[in-house]
Amino acid sequence: MHTFQPFPVNSIDINPFSLIGQQWGAVTVEHEGKVNSMTVSWGGVGVLWNKNVATIYLRDSRYTKELLDQSEKFSITFFDESYKRALKYLGAVSGRNEDKLAGARLNINRDLNVPFIDEGNFVLICRKLSSTPILPEHFADKKIADDFYKDSDYHTMYIGEILDLLAR
Ligand SMILES: Cc1cc2nc3c(=O)[nH]c(=O)nc-3n(C[C@H](O)[C@H](O)[C@H](O)COP(=O)(O)O)c2cc1C
Repeated sequence: MHTFQPFPVNSIDINPFSLIGQQWGAVTVEHEGKVNSMTVSWGGVGVLWNKNVATIYLRDSRYTKELLDQSEKFSITFFDESYKRALKYLGAVSGRNEDKLAGARLNINRDLNVPFIDEGNFVLICRKLSSTPILPEHFADKKIADDFYKDSDYHTMYIGEILDLLAR
């Protein structure tokens, strides 16, 4: 296991656009002893309800969503470039059918009893504050429905309070 240190959220200088959008992250959730991770490249960090928050968007079809709907906490792990292949794998197969972490040769570490991926170098530990389905009637730009939801596999927006920011 690697040693991760907690850092104050405002002490870290990150670019959320490149971190989330280009480096990608892995959302990890646990429910009743079952741990699963999936790759995300859409999301954000910011401030809401006087809390530091992270936002993720999970489509209805994701097994991770099924687990997160029944769970209070989640983590987002970020990696260096050498883990891109592992992230492609976590973003291509479903934990419904297999143990993805074993398949990607990744290991689970824990903080506040929340699982995250030990091979990462930067981690957000989050507590779910809200979950909001994003439905077609919410699109001000109607083109979004055509561009992203022809199959009606809609996203739910999860906003999580950042409980810990870890780095190693
Ligand atoms: C680079 C990349 C980014 C992705 N970003 C998201 C995302 O933000 N939200 C989402 O619902 N799916 C996203 N996916 C797709 C899921 O990671 C993928 O469907 C995964 O297999 C779901 O796994 P699960 O069924 O075990 O939850 C992404 C996939 C890749 C490769």
